[in-house]
Amino acid sequence: MGLSLYDNGYLNTAVCKSTISYIDGDRGILRYRGYNIEELAEHSSFIEVSYLLIYGELPTRQQLATWNARIMRHTFVHENMLEYMKSFRYDAHPMGMLVSAVAAMSTFHPEASTDLHGDQIYQDHKMINKQIFRLIGKIPTLAAIAYRHRIGRPYVYPNQELDFTGNFLFMMDRLSETTYTPNPALVRALDVIFILHADHELNCSTAAVRQLGSTGIDPYVSIAGATAALYGPSHGGANEAALKMLEEIGSVENIPAFIEQVKAKKRKLMGFGHRVYKFYDPRAKLMRKTAEEVFKIMGRNPIIDVAIELERIALSDEYFIKRNLYPNVDFYSGIIYKSMGFPTDFFPVLFAIARTTGWLAHWREQLLQGTPIFRPAQAYNGEEAREYVKMEDRV
Ligand code: CMC
Repeated sequence: MGLSLYDNGYLNTAVCKSTISYIDGDRGILRYRGYNIEELAEHSSFIEVSYLLIYGELPTRQQLATWNARIMRHTFVHENMLEYMKSFRYDAHPMGMLVSAVAAMSTFHPEASTDLHGDQIYQDHKMINKQIFRLIGKIPTLAAIAYRHRIGRPYVYPNQELDFTGNFLFMMDRLSETTYTPNPALVRALDVIFILHADHELNCSTAAVRQLGSTGIDPYVSIAGATAALYGPSHGGANEAALKMLEEIGSVENIPAFIEQVKAKKRKLMGFGHRVYKFYDPRAKLMRKTAEEVFKIMGRNPIIDVAIELERIALSDEYFIKRNLYPNVDFYSGIIYKSMGFPTDFFPVLFAIARTTGWLAHWREQLLQGTPIFRPAQAYNGEEAREYVKMEDRV
């Protein structure tokens, strides 16, 4: 039966070697290419961190300018893509729209197809880079279109004079033809959030990129698959679920009763626990700090007090201590997004915009490494060989 290989949910199986991000879950450490996440969040921009994740080094001023220009040049999407996006129901979930739109990009860029051109096209670094510029550049545009579709407002063309995150907020918010520039402090807050979400080694969606990429398909379908994996409430959907939970709790007096439900296993404390971190997720600390920055502009969201008290009670409760359950990145992110005015079901889309960089870093690393097709083993525990029973003999 091969039971010695059995590893339900890949708890212990390393399926690749990678130099992109490092996590020490017992000490709450996260590094991208060797740099601590705290320093990157303080000193770098998201677009700079994207370069670091993909190419392995912090860019020089010149490299950063070139990289930024290449990405911003690819922010426009084909006009037919707009028609495609318009065909969704008015209340379509933006993650459903994003998954479909990213997959559709495959048909808009057939020169990226290994099916048509053979996998040797990806021995060419220019071809690899071009797909990377396109995906990082266009995903915020697709995300903004999904949002504008929902609220019934016309699509806003990218403003290539702005930086990556400023342009994204511009495409989301612009109301009229008058000059509009997003608040720089909110742009910086979202940029930091994007840095914190950019990569996280072999999480479920990144594993999906490597699994799909191992078949030789183009990166658009791989990234669409990763976006689909991120949609799930145990992964990128947790920020939405965490906020809904905090709103349902409503006020601090209701916390003890909620905690009892969690301990009775009737509920899960969303935004808590992590497969890798058995200590405080360093991103959660930075998120809490970013929340305060956003409140200075948008006003304090009272739900933060419920979150802080819930964290305090949980971290002093035997149930959570014994199981090493701490807040993860999603515990505070939803409150920030809500305060910034994003609709709840748009939260995982924001995660996808940032994580596209990490996905592409893994896609590129895998191409350069050369990887056999992923084909995990299973432990079969079904029937032994049985004799076929004809329809007339079945009871
Ligand atoms: N609330 C209550 N109990 C929990 C929680 C939670 N959030 N997470 C784990 N537990 C309990 C679980 O019931 C189990 O208890 P017992 O030993 O009595 O059976 C124990 O802790 C170990 O849990 P596990 O399910 O084996 O842990 P895991 O590593 O498989 O799951 C997780 C990790 C993230 C899926 C899980 O902690 C969870 O569902 N958390 C809530 C959802 C969430 O916040 N997800 C975002 C993760 S971070 C962003 C990302 O990477 O996408």
